[in-house]
Amino acid sequence: EKAGFDHFMLKEINEQPKAYRDTMRGRISEDGRSVALPELKITAEQLKGINRVHIVACGTALHAGLVGKNVIESLVRIPVETDVASEYRYRSPIITPDTLVIVVSQSGETADTLAALREAQRCGARVLAITNVVGSSVAREADDVIITLAGPEIAVASTKAYSSQLIAFFLFGLYWAQVVGKQDEAAVSHVLSAMQALPEQVEKILAQAEVLKEVAESISHHSSLFFIGRGVDYAVAMEGSLKLKEISYIHSEAYAAGELKHGTLALIEEGTPVIALLTQEELYEKMLSNIKETKARGADVLGIVNEGHESEIAKSVDRYFSIPRTLPLLTPALSVIPLQLISYYASLALGHDVDKPRNLAKSVTVE
Ligand code: M6R
Repeated sequence: EKAGFDHFMLKEINEQPKAYRDTMRGRISEDGRSVALPELKITAEQLKGINRVHIVACGTALHAGLVGKNVIESLVRIPVETDVASEYRYRSPIITPDTLVIVVSQSGETADTLAALREAQRCGARVLAITNVVGSSVAREADDVIITLAGPEIAVASTKAYSSQLIAFFLFGLYWAQVVGKQDEAAVSHVLSAMQALPEQVEKILAQAEVLKEVAESISHHSSLFFIGRGVDYAVAMEGSLKLKEISYIHSEAYAAGELKHGTLALIEEGTPVIALLTQEELYEKMLSNIKETKARGADVLGIVNEGHESEIAKSVDRYFSIPRTLPLLTPALSVIPLQLISYYASLALGHDVDKPRNLAKSVTVE
C-alpha cells in the first residue's frame, strides 16, 4: 500500500504532481481563461460585499493559510488576517457582516478548527472550508466547501495536503478576483497557465530528490537551525521548520530574514545551518544581505533559488538548490518540496519513525 516507497511520507511527497492536477481538474475552463467553482454557494453579489477575511487553522494548514493571505491580498486587494484556531476561538474575534472566515483543515476533524468555525458562525460570519475530507465535520458545517483532491494522507507529517491547499487558495483567489472584476481575463489566464505548469515542475524537483539527502544528513548532526525568507518565502520557511521539528526532532526556527538582526542573529555561530529561500526576485538582493549577515557569523547556508541564479548564488552560499521558475505568488507550491524532502531524509538519517513521529497524532480531535 506504500506503492513501492519506504514510507507513506515519501509516497505522499511524490504524489504531489497528481494532487495538483486532481485539485485543478474541472476547475479551470477548457480555454484556460477562467476558474469555475460550482460547488460554492456564495454568490458573486455576496463576494462583492466581503471586505475582510479571517483565515483560521492549525499547524501546517495554518501555514497554507499564510500563503493564502498573500494570494487573496494580492489578487483581490482585501485585508486578510490569519490566526491560530486555538487562539481565535477564545479571543472574541471581531466579525462583521462583511467578514468571510476561511478555515483550512486536511482532516476536517481538528477540534480547535471546528470550534473556531462554530464560533465564527455564532458571530454571524459566513465560513468557507478548504478540506481534504468530503463528509468531515468541517465540510458538513461550513457554508461553502472547497475540497482538495490530494487523496488520503496517512503520514502524520502533512505534505500533499498542504500543497493542495495552496492550489485551492490560488483557485479561490483567482475566482474571487474574476467575479468581482479585480483581475481581468488576461491576468487570470496568465496565472492559470503558470498553475498548469506546476505539476511538471514538481516532477522536475522530485527527480533531484537525492541531492537533498546529503544536505539532510549534514543537518542531522546539528541541534538547531534556521529557515529564513521574506514574503511568501517566510510563510514557506515556517512550514519547512515545522516539518523538520515534527519528524527529525531537531530544533529549528523560521524567521523573517529582515528580522534576524533584531535579536536572533545572536544565536548564529560557526557551523549553524541556515536554509534561506530566495524565490522572490524583488527581494533577492535584500535576502543576499541577510545571508551575508549570517555568513559573517559562520553560518552554513543552503540557498533555495529560482533557476537561472545558480552561478550567482554559488558565490554567496555554501550550497544551493534551484527550482523551476513560476510566478512569484505561486512559488510556495514548488519551494516547499525541497524542504519536505530535507525533513524526510533528516528523519531517516536519525533513524526515527518517519510516518509516526513521537507524541503526535494525525488528527487532533482534542483541544
Ligand atoms: O487535519 P488538519 O489539517 O486540521 O490538521 C492540522 C494540524 O494538526 C496538522 O497540519 C499538523 O500540523 C501536521 N501534522 C503537520 O505536518
